[in-house]
Amino acid sequence: MYKKSLFILIFLFSQVVLYAQNIIPFPTSIQLSSTNVSIDAIQSIRFSDEVLRSNAEIFSQYLQNINGKILLAKPASNGTIILQLDKQAKQEAYTLTPLANNNIEIKGSESGIFYGLMTLLQWMTDPNSKTINASIQDQPSFLWRGMHLDVCRHFFPIAFVKKYIDILALHKMNTFHWHLTDDQGWRIEIKKYPLLTSIGSKRKETMMDKHFNPYIGDQIPVEGFYTQTEIKEVIDYASARHITVVPEIEMPGHSVAALTAYPQFACKDSIVDVMTTWGVSSNVFCTKDATIHFLEDILDEVISLFPSKYIHIGGDEVPKENWKSCAACQKNIKENHLKNEHELQSYFIKKIDAYISSKGRNTIGWDEILEGGLAPNATVMSWRGEEGGIAAAKQNHGVVMTPGSYCYFDHYQGKKATEPLAIGGFTTVEKVYGYQPIPALLPKQNRKYILGAQGNVWTEYIPTSDHVEYMAVPRLCALAEVLWTGDKRKDYGNFAKRLITHFSFLEKNKINYAKNIFDVEIKSNISASGLQLNMHNALPNYTIKYTMDTTLLEADWKSADSTPISIRQSANMKAALFNDKGEKMGAVVSQSYVVNLATGKKVNNKPAASSYYNHGGNTTLVDGIIGTLPWTGSEWLGWSGKNVETILDLGTKTTVHSVSMHYLSDEASWIYLPQQIELWVSIDGKQYIQKGKITEKDILQLEKGSSPVFQFEPLSTRFIKLVSTCIPKIPAGKPGATEDAWLFMSELVVE
Ligand code: ACM
Ligand code: ZN
Repeated sequence: MYKKSLFILIFLFSQVVLYAQNIIPFPTSIQLSSTNVSIDAIQSIRFSDEVLRSNAEIFSQYLQNINGKILLAKPASNGTIILQLDKQAKQEAYTLTPLANNNIEIKGSESGIFYGLMTLLQWMTDPNSKTINASIQDQPSFLWRGMHLDVCRHFFPIAFVKKYIDILALHKMNTFHWHLTDDQGWRIEIKKYPLLTSIGSKRKETMMDKHFNPYIGDQIPVEGFYTQTEIKEVIDYASARHITVVPEIEMPGHSVAALTAYPQFACKDSIVDVMTTWGVSSNVFCTKDATIHFLEDILDEVISLFPSKYIHIGGDEVPKENWKSCAACQKNIKENHLKNEHELQSYFIKKIDAYISSKGRNTIGWDEILEGGLAPNATVMSWRGEEGGIAAAKQNHGVVMTPGSYCYFDHYQGKKATEPLAIGGFTTVEKVYGYQPIPALLPKQNRKYILGAQGNVWTEYIPTSDHVEYMAVPRLCALAEVLWTGDKRKDYGNFAKRLITHFSFLEKNKINYAKNIFDVEIKSNISASGLQLNMHNALPNYTIKYTMDTTLLEADWKSADSTPISIRQSANMKAALFNDKGEKMGAVVSQSYVVNLATGKKVNNKPAASSYYNHGGNTTLVDGIIGTLPWTGSEWLGWSGKNVETILDLGTKTTVHSVSMHYLSDEASWIYLPQQIELWVSIDGKQYIQKGKITEKDILQLEKGSSPVFQFEPLSTRFIKLVSTCIPKIPAGKPGATEDAWLFMSELVVE
C-alpha cells in the first residue's frame, strides 16, 4: 500500500513538473531530476572559456530586461549558472543540469550553450516556475531555422531589425534572411553605385490599401537605406546571438528601384520610377554582359560585408516579355544555343552562381531558378508550394522550405473582421504547427537535402514594426518548434497551452503578438444530411459558445460540444471562446451562410485545386460561404493556368432555374475571371446537355464584384456541370504579364 501511493505521488509529481515547463521550442529530451535549483537563489553566472563571455552577457541583459534581476559578475560558490564549453559537442547541442547548492550547469558547443541559456531564460521568468527541477539534453532537428523580413516594401530602422533578431534568438532560430532590394526600394549602400541609394531608396508615395485600379496614392514619400557600417553592426549583433544574416539582392526581376537609378541595365533604356504599387513588374534586368558586370560589382561589396555561406539572389517572378523583344537578350539566346527565355533566365542565374561560387560562397534563390535548368551549386528556396523543393532535393541540391500556405506570415491568421488588411491567404498558428518540412513524397535518400524551413514576412501591407511583430508572432513560435523540436513535438493543444504562458514572456519582452489562438474556427463539413458546422479550438479547459440568434446575450449562447450543427437555412453564426469564469477569451467570430439548392451537396472539381489554395477542399464551393473581398484565402479555391470542370450532384432530380458561380478578380495577385463558362445538365451523370454559355464579352461587362448567372426556364436535373475556361496568359502591361493566370472560385449557387 505504502509503495503504491509513493508511486502515484511520483507519477503525479512528474506530471506537474512536465507541465510547469512552458519552454518554446520544447526541448527534445527532458527528465525530472532529483536535484532542485531554486530560481530565486540564482545570483551569478560564470564561464569556462572567454569565448562564452558574450553568451553570458547577452543572457544577463535579456534577464535584466525581463524582470530586473541583475546577475553578479563575480561568481559565487552557490546559485551560479556555470557555462561549460565542450569542444566535442555537436554544433547547437547543449545539456542543462541542476547541481547541488543551487548551481546549474549548461554544457555544449558555443552556440549550444546560447540555446541552453535561452531555455533557462524562459524557465526562470515563467511565473508558474519556482525551481529548475529537470535535466535537459537538447539539439535542433533542422539546420536552417529561418525568418525573413522584407525591408523594401516598407522600411524599418536598424533598431527594429535588431529587435527582430532578438525575437529570433529567443526562439532558437538561427537564420535571418534580409530582403534588401525590390521594386519599391533599394536598401543597401553600394559604394561603387551611389545612385542605387540616392535614387533607388526613395519613392514618392505608397498605394493606399488595395487601390490598384483606380490607383490612389497616400502622397507620403518613403525613403531609407542601411549604410555599410549599419549593416556590419547588424551582422555582429546577429552573430553574437548565433544568427547568420543571409542578404538577398533580387535579380533579374524585382529590380525596378535599381533600374530607376541605372536604366542602362534594363532592356529598354527608358526612365522609370521606383514603384509605389505592389505586384510583379515586367521591367527587369537585361541579360547583357554589362548587367552581369554591374551585378558582380554589387555582389563583391555584398560578399565582403556578409560572412554568410549563402547569398540570396532572388530569381522569382521574372516576366520574360522585355527579353523577347530585346536585341541583346535574343543575341544571348542565339549565341548560347538556348531554347527560350526560360533557358535565358537559367543562363543568367548560372553566370551569377559561377561568380558567387568563385568567391567561395553558395547561391540560394527562389524556386523559379529551377526553370530552364538549375545552376550547379544553387540551393532552392521553395515558396510556390513544395514542388520546387522536391524537384531540387531529387537533383541533390539543398532546399529551404517556405511554402506559402504554411510559411507566409503575411497571410491572414484569423477571420475576425478586425484583422488588419493582408495580402491574402489564410495561415493559422495551428496550420504552421502542423507543418512537416520533409515532404512525404520525397524519396528517403534525398531527405537530407531539406536543410529546414523559414517564415517569410513580406511587408506590402505591413507598414509598421508593431504590425510586423503582430504578423510574425506567434506563428514564428510554432515554426520554431517545428524546426527545433521536430518530430518530438507535442500535439497542438499542448503547444497552444504553453503558448498562453509564453504570451507573458512576449509581453515582458515588449513583443507585440496576435491572439488568434483564442479564435473559434468554424469548420464546414458535408454529410449525407447536408451542411454541418463543427466548432473548433484546440485549447483545453475552455468552452466554445455560439448562437444563430442575433437577439441573445452572450451569456445565453449555447455551449458547443462535438455534435455537428446542421444548417438548413440561411443564417448568421457567431461563436467565441470563454473561460470557466464566463469571460470571453478572444473576439467573436461571425460567419454568414447563404443556403441554396447546392449547399451541402456533393461537388467535385477536375483537376483538383492547387494545393496552394485548397483550404477546405471542394466543400468550399458548397459551404454556404460566399467569398468576400478583400479575399482572405480560406473562402476561395484557386487554379493556375487550368480550365476547371465542376460537377455538382443534387442527390435527386430537382427543379432549378438559375445557376451561378462566384469568381474572383484581383489582377495584382494574378487572379482573373474566366474567359468563358459553359453550363451543362444531366439526369444520370453520364449524358449531359448544354444549357448555356457565357462568353468573354458578357464577362467583361459584369460589374466589379458581381458574378455571372445562368437563368433559364425551370427544368428538372440531378447533375450540374460548369466548365470554366481560364484566360490563356496574363495580358501584356498587367502584373505577371505572360505568366499563367489564376482562376479563383468561391460559391456555387443553384436556385
Ligand atoms: C516570393 O514570394 N515572390 C518569393
Ligand atoms: Zn535585354
